[in-house]
Amino acid sequence: MLNKIYDWVDERVDLTPIWRDVADHEVPEHVNPAHHFSAFVYCFGGLTFFLVVIQFLSGMFLTMYYVPDIMNAYESVKYLQNEVAYGQIVRGMHHWGASLVIVMMFLHTLRVFFQGAYKKPRELNWVIGVSIFMIILGLGFTGYLLPWDMKAYFATKVGLEIAASVPFLGGYIETLLAGGGVIGAQTLARFFAIHVFFLPAALLGLIAAHFILIRRQGISGPL
Ligand code: HEM
Repeated sequence: MLNKIYDWVDERVDLTPIWRDVADHEVPEHVNPAHHFSAFVYCFGGLTFFLVVIQFLSGMFLTMYYVPDIMNAYESVKYLQNEVAYGQIVRGMHHWGASLVIVMMFLHTLRVFFQGAYKKPRELNWVIGVSIFMIILGLGFTGYLLPWDMKAYFATKVGLEIAASVPFLGGYIETLLAGGGVIGAQTLARFFAIHVFFLPAALLGLIAAHFILIRRQGISGPL
């Protein structure tokens, strides 16, 4: 039955070459942990991607209950946490995943750095990687405010004060992020939009570019 559906779609869309291109791609020996155990360091990028996918999926479910306004945000998270079936698990996945993704991305960056994999012709992919790094940190910063509890409020206060200390531009950055002089309704609405639309959209585009470049250039050679 599934085969028939696949054949029907394939006849019209010619899907097979696309996934064969991914599935038949030969992995060089030096990145295969079955040949050299130390090649496990090449897994960090793929594991980071796996965690990013978990963050997208769990985050999409969280938005079904989360209410991004200062009167309801805290209560909506409490309700999700205590009343909704599997709510605690999905929130837990998003919470722990947020930290894990940073750890994994950092390990991946260390692998690329210490192997010198950022050198010509991969400089552009390094720059794309640095942009991804900042976006992931931005997701962590904006997501932290959303539960709208004391910890969220004061952590954001500290973060905004750090942003405000940037020479010359600090004041503008703070106003742009907070939506005014105090952390309030505008700040929560902004952080929500940035967390759920702006940064994820940018992240998707950059990860696509990251992967396209890796396929074009191939993985860097052995040390
Ligand atoms: C969401 C974050 C990221 C994901 C999902 C990701 C994913 C990947 C994957 C799957 C690879 C293939 C090789 C491997 O896994 O080691 C790779 C390679 C690479 N990544 Fe990332 N990456 C991310 C962030 C970064 C960051 C932060 C940097 C640097 C600042 C970076 C720089 C590179 C470079 C230069 C390569 C090519 C390495 C080579 O050819 O040996 N990436 N990335």
